[in-house]
Amino acid sequence: MPARSTTDPTPATDTRDAVSALLARHGHAAHALVQILRELQAQQGWLPRDGLQQVADALGLSLAHVQGVAGFYRFLHQQPVGEYRLLFSDNITDRLLGSEKLMADLCRRLGVVPGRVSADGLVSVDRSSCTGHGDQGPALLINHHHVLTHLDAERVAQMAGLLRQRVPVEQWPAAWFEVQHNIRRADVLLGEPSAPGTALAAALARGSEATLAEIKRSKLRGRGGAGFSTGRKWEMCRNAPGAERVVVCNADEGEPGTFKDRVLLARHADAVFGGMTIAAHVIGARIGLVYLRGEYRYLLEHLLSVLQRRRDTRLLGPSILGQAGFDFDIRIHVGAGAYVCGAETSLIESLEGKRGTPRIRPPFPVEQGYLGHPTVVNNVETFCAINPIVRQGGAWWASIGTSSSTGTMLHAVSGDCERPGVYEYPYGTRIGRILEDCGARDTQAVQVGGPSGVCLSAFEFGRRIAFEDVPSAGAFMVFDRSRDMFEVARAFAHFFAHESCGFCTPCRVGTALVVKRLDKLAAGHGSRHDVDVLYELDKLMHTATHCGLGATACNPLRDTILKFRPAYEQHLKSLYFEPGFDLDAELSIARHMTGRDDAAAHLDNGA
Ligand SMILES: Cc1cc2nc3c(=O)[nH]c(=O)nc-3n(C[C@H](O)[C@H](O)[C@H](O)COP(=O)(O)O)c2cc1C
Ligand code: SF4
Repeated sequence: MPARSTTDPTPATDTRDAVSALLARHGHAAHALVQILRELQAQQGWLPRDGLQQVADALGLSLAHVQGVAGFYRFLHQQPVGEYRLLFSDNITDRLLGSEKLMADLCRRLGVVPGRVSADGLVSVDRSSCTGHGDQGPALLINHHHVLTHLDAERVAQMAGLLRQRVPVEQWPAAWFEVQHNIRRADVLLGEPSAPGTALAAALARGSEATLAEIKRSKLRGRGGAGFSTGRKWEMCRNAPGAERVVVCNADEGEPGTFKDRVLLARHADAVFGGMTIAAHVIGARIGLVYLRGEYRYLLEHLLSVLQRRRDTRLLGPSILGQAGFDFDIRIHVGAGAYVCGAETSLIESLEGKRGTPRIRPPFPVEQGYLGHPTVVNNVETFCAINPIVRQGGAWWASIGTSSSTGTMLHAVSGDCERPGVYEYPYGTRIGRILEDCGARDTQAVQVGGPSGVCLSAFEFGRRIAFEDVPSAGAFMVFDRSRDMFEVARAFAHFFAHESCGFCTPCRVGTALVVKRLDKLAAGHGSRHDVDVLYELDKLMHTATHCGLGATACNPLRDTILKFRPAYEQHLKSLYFEPGFDLDAELSIARHMTGRDDAAAHLDNGA
């Protein structure tokens, strides 16, 4: 699948015209704000103040509100950025493949400093959290639209030349933008797609109540991480009071190391939309929304064309498959770079055009979600799983996997292995089996479920993927014995600090303190006291933060301290306390000024 997009609105040089056209397209409702800002930026390159003011006036919002929303999302810019904005995917697996060296090389060739715009305004180069291409990294995002995979030194050299000559991205070699599916093991979900509408027709024939009963019988649990019962969630939404109901597909896939939803969206979009339509039939929804992460913007045209085909064949729209009163359609909302927006209440805030701050629960989305309507939010893979369940029955699905974790699950495998890609296994599969299949050798650790998941060491490779043993949200990152697990944990700590939305103090300050301590250790000033402080921070953040991001931010830290202690110890200078700087060297100026440099003025002499 080519990772270049072609259908953003035609660039309009005049901001006023651009805003008017966008308002005509999206209407004047405040919940369209994030989409209007994203598209305005796609035309203008950035978001000038007068444009924000016009949007604010048209939507009946204050300028401060609009600026506050724009300021929340990392892909929205209120200052000019480079004509070419390059973001290197900065997951640990990109780093293992040399992304940092490649970025330094590109910056040197272009004469730019990371994070700054070049003096001629041509280019800016920076890092971005994982773009979701860990099986074909290092990856690079260009102008938030185009994804370049398999980056290497030769491509970087050629790219620098193209950039200097201002060659439009559309004219760069097409092969650079190829995104492979890399399906390495297919089972019931990743096999050949069945004819669109088959499962939906089966659901309509069975009726909404019986379909719900079948889903409950399957014991399907959500694939987005929390593992909540899908049947139960749909039932609660169906029973909640309200005239309108909403189905939301969570395609934010922001967990570093995860890319299985990308493959499902690219290859099995019909199954995703089919699952959403069956959900609409069960709960009685008319509105469907897909929250597509900004990094997957290049999939938008493909997804829109599948939606249109489904409308043309009466699988979407009014009276679906001829059933009077069953009206349902799906819109796609493109995100703008915020990991926290994967959390369902943040996602709903973002869909409503606001900053993606997580809501206080209760009420839960099944009671009051999008615009106050009862809303079902499910992961991409969860919706895909609905199709075979409806076609072949809940009991059949429940017979696969284990009694508490039924069916199959997709694993996005990356890192130190010969065959990175997507592997589908029944629940209950051993970690060691996956390592064998992907060609991992001399493996030291596996990070399952992304940074917020669990880090396993070699003695645990007999454990099984299942909610009751090792739960996973899809990522499976492999680290061989040459890797420093302290550095892996430090990279994840930087990720969480970068992605903290800042709403609550324990997370905003806690993630920053964790980074500070780990950087201190990395700089060679660590002591056992620092490790003890890290333990305390973990305990505090686990219990005192507002949402799951803060609560899980210390997971990799806790696991690696417990299981890879020597990796930390090699960074400890003293057993007890060590300041984060060289105290003796800091005092040299004072010694010089006071003219006192005798032995007693030196710390190591016990003064
Ligand atoms: C910080 C954070 C990020 C999350 N990111 C995602 C995500 O990218 N995709 C996803 O499906 N669920 C994500 N979740 C879980 C969702 O909140 C929610 O549980 C899920 O979408 C429900 O769908 P499911 O029942 O099908 O798993 C995230 C949760 C948190 C706390
Ligand atoms: S825990 Fe972190 S991400 Fe969640 S609300 Fe608090 S600051 Fe925001």
